[in-house]
Amino acid sequence: MLRMEGPVKSDFRLARKTTTVSDVEIPAGTVVMVSLPAANRDPVRFENPHELRIDRENAREHIAFGRGVHSCPGGPLARVEARVTIERILDRMHDIRVSEAQHGPAHERDFRYEPTYILRGLTELHLEFTPVD
Ligand code: HEM
Repeated sequence: MLRMEGPVKSDFRLARKTTTVSDVEIPAGTVVMVSLPAANRDPVRFENPHELRIDRENAREHIAFGRGVHSCPGGPLARVEARVTIERILDRMHDIRVSEAQHGPAHERDFRYEPTYILRGLTELHLEFTPVD
């Protein structure tokens, strides 16, 4: 899910020396904005990149937490938080559904995102569920 729907959309690097990426020359001193979601769906790296395959052998090659000396030090904490959150939700709720009244029918969902190039976050998510007794 981090590969397909990572919450960070862009990261920045300063080119310390002139280089080329693919066939684009990047002069020293250029600030480069990297699209993490685009890299994470690069078909050269990930076969059928828009498919969620939980058994994808190279799933861990995603860069949702960045890469290199500045890669996210909070990654392990974020993973534990997500696991605990999902476990607690599943302990309390059955039959979890996206609200069609709020977001439209499956395959035609209307989701709104925070208007920023940096992060990908829903402004609202309406769910329906049956509480566990
Ligand atoms: C799913 C949750 C998270 C995602 C997707 C995420 C993603 C990222 C990304 C993409 C970067 C930039 C990495 C780079 O430039 O190579 C970053 C940096 C950073 N993150 Fe996170 N992060 C998450 C959660 C957290 C949490 C929970 C913490 C702290 C408790 C945290 C602390 C930091 C810090 C301090 C940096 C700066 C590291 C540096 O510049 O050396 N992050 N994160």
